[in-house]
Amino acid sequence: MKPNKNVVSLAIILLLLIGCKTLPATPTGLVTEKAMVVSAREEASKIGVEILKKGGNAFDAMVATEMALVVAYPFAGNLGGGGFMVYRKSDGTTGALDYREKAPLSATKDMYLDSSGNVIPDMSTVGATAVGVPGTVAGMIAVHDKFGKLPLEEIFAPVIALAQNGIVVTQKQAEHFEAYRDEILEVNGGSTTFPIDAKPGDILKYPVLAKTLQRISEQGRDGFYKGETATSLAAFIQQNGGFVTVEDLAEYEAIWRTPIAFNYKDLRIISMSPPSSGGITLNQIFRMMEPYKVSKYGHNSEKEIQLFTEAARRAYADRNYYLGDPDFVDIPKETLLSDAYLKKRMESFSFKKATKSSDIQEGNVQMAESMETTHYSIVDHEGNAVSVTTTLNGAYGSKLYSDELGFFLNNEMDDFSAKAGVPNMFGLIGAEANSIAPEKRMLSSMTPTLVERDGKLWMVVGTPGGSTIITAVAQTILNAYEFNMSMQKAVDAPRFHHQWLPDVIMFEPQGFSNQLKDELRSKGYNINEERTPIIGKVNAIRILPDGHLEGGADRRGDDTAVGF
Ligand code: GLY
Repeated sequence: MKPNKNVVSLAIILLLLIGCKTLPATPTGLVTEKAMVVSAREEASKIGVEILKKGGNAFDAMVATEMALVVAYPFAGNLGGGGFMVYRKSDGTTGALDYREKAPLSATKDMYLDSSGNVIPDMSTVGATAVGVPGTVAGMIAVHDKFGKLPLEEIFAPVIALAQNGIVVTQKQAEHFEAYRDEILEVNGGSTTFPIDAKPGDILKYPVLAKTLQRISEQGRDGFYKGETATSLAAFIQQNGGFVTVEDLAEYEAIWRTPIAFNYKDLRIISMSPPSSGGITLNQIFRMMEPYKVSKYGHNSEKEIQLFTEAARRAYADRNYYLGDPDFVDIPKETLLSDAYLKKRMESFSFKKATKSSDIQEGNVQMAESMETTHYSIVDHEGNAVSVTTTLNGAYGSKLYSDELGFFLNNEMDDFSAKAGVPNMFGLIGAEANSIAPEKRMLSSMTPTLVERDGKLWMVVGTPGGSTIITAVAQTILNAYEFNMSMQKAVDAPRFHHQWLPDVIMFEPQGFSNQLKDELRSKGYNINEERTPIIGKVNAIRILPDGHLEGGADRRGDDTAVGF
């Protein structure tokens, strides 16, 4: 009897399926054919895509998206802050840009301590004294100079139009305004021109900001770091008791860096190098987990949480002690990332019992941050990818808003360690490596990341979240790789966090059962019940086997993927 053709085809398909490791997850986020931008606001993603459609590349779209976030998402989008970008060009070359803020020339190690050596409350977090020298505009111009295709004025045009014509206030944005209203009024007074009382559906126009953007569009970095903007900005900061001068602004430079790149199983992960701790800490966590069969444990299972927590505990202890601005401190990078060191670090790990953070010092060769940063991911039609995280540090930064220029100033000076051993606003305990010095960059957790699989671009990922950024990025990659989730599911999945000190696991409000928490408690883990905030707002893109793109825009915010 001749075998039935259908039966033979089915058998072949089944054999292929058994032979294959796992089929790629079916997308559940937006899928587009050629290009995509995923950011915290639809307006910003749309403007990034508009620039791509006009023939711009991912780097042009980066400038457009970042500037649109200044208008549409003043919570974290900024002219008065800084950030990091990691790129991978379509030819596979990679690099990174550091446009982190830096300490003013007049800064001193003890500038936030009183005469008894105690940290002065609020001085590094609220108002002009908290402001570091902004790096964002220098970053945008550096990217455009090196890789841009379209003229700056063409890139800025839709952003300036957005500021002039206005954005519609979303429900979540109105909630942010409400939550920070009192602090913003306290710092700026009741006459502030920032529209803090806006309600959902209101249209907000920013004519003053449009003029500032116009100057940058016409004059490049001189439109911000010199002339009218610089004079107004420095005078404003100093009138309010801060330290940034016209000289500080004139001297600011963005710096091209070599990213941290490492293998995890058959992935190659490329992430930000110091002065961000993101890449090194991510590298340590993944390499400490690599010997284990993570996928077998199950997503957010007791064993996965234990393994992840113990790797993070050890990595954050190192972060807080060793990492700082590489132009000021010697970071023992080779040792911290060596297989021998990481193997030794995990020798004390057992699934039977929690390690105590008090028993983990910096490894024998041993920090604090805010949740209110923002991340966007871009892939263009040529296959260039950029992963960018940018921040004012806290929500609306220092809360100081320049009426004359139309934007908020950062409170990034708080990311330095004002005093060794004293936690910052994220509870991170800092050390000497991250102490304050003139022109030094403060340590960051921002972790803009790219992932290759089988030598090809597979994911662009990053998130806000202060000290939780690194663990949120790591879990998103693990969700997609170990647990074969679609990009959108990997982004939406509930997250947890551990950072060595305080010695607690922080869980998001939903998604972790009481039984699971009880089991962890019985093994000696402390669970944070008081504070269960959302952890991160991840914006990511996955490249599908057929070259299409799947967006993962975090459900936790107004984040939106747009593409074509
Ligand atoms: N300000 C948050 C960070 O740089 O990590």
